Amino acid sequence: MVEQQQCLVIIKPDGLIKSLTGNIITALSETKLKIVGAKVLKVPRELAERHYAELKERKPHVFVGTVDYITGKYHTDRVLVLVYQGEDAIEKIRRICGSTNPEDADPVSIRGRYGRIHSKTGVFENVIHASDSTENAEKEIKLWFQPSELAEILYPTEKLKVEVEQTFWK
Ligand code: PPS
Repeated sequence: MVEQQQCLVIIKPDGLIKSLTGNIITALSETKLKIVGAKVLKVPRELAERHYAELKERKPHVFVGTVDYITGKYHTDRVLVLVYQGEDAIEKIRRICGSTNPEDADPVSIRGRYGRIHSKTGVFENVIHASDSTENAEKEIKLWFQPSELAEILYPTEKLKVEVEQTFWK
């Protein structure tokens, strides 16, 4: 039995505003991985800060600009978040994404084709985020998705009784 891996992918605000979603999903379909989760959402600043929490420690000079970018300061405030699943999902997806720095990325990769560096801030507008390790994939998937939003679940879950206010169709 082949070991399954999941990878979180975020098509960032520039990908959406430039109508690149179709091209990006077509490029990723070369991997033959399954999509097991997908949603469009406005990214709350707190979610973006948690997603890039490790960057705050490691590269504080790019943290604010990267959070500004993904929360929509320069394009739109929407992103498309996906979870891909299959054998070696992380490696397969990241190969098609290309290097984080769009100037270093293979010209036919997603970032090489569509990415740029913001001239004023130096932030990589690299169109797509993809988890870089199984540990980060697990953290990121748990941050962006609830188990009920995924068609397949790899991580342990628990059932809890909670009282929540929810919006229903009238
Ligand atoms: S790398 O390859 O080491 O630079 O990438 P990493 O440190 O793992 O991730 C850095 C995330 O910050 C975003 N970002 C930048 N990194 C470095 N330099 C600049 N100028 C910069 N601008 C933005 C980078 O795109 C990574 O986020 P994701 O979402 O993974 O692309």
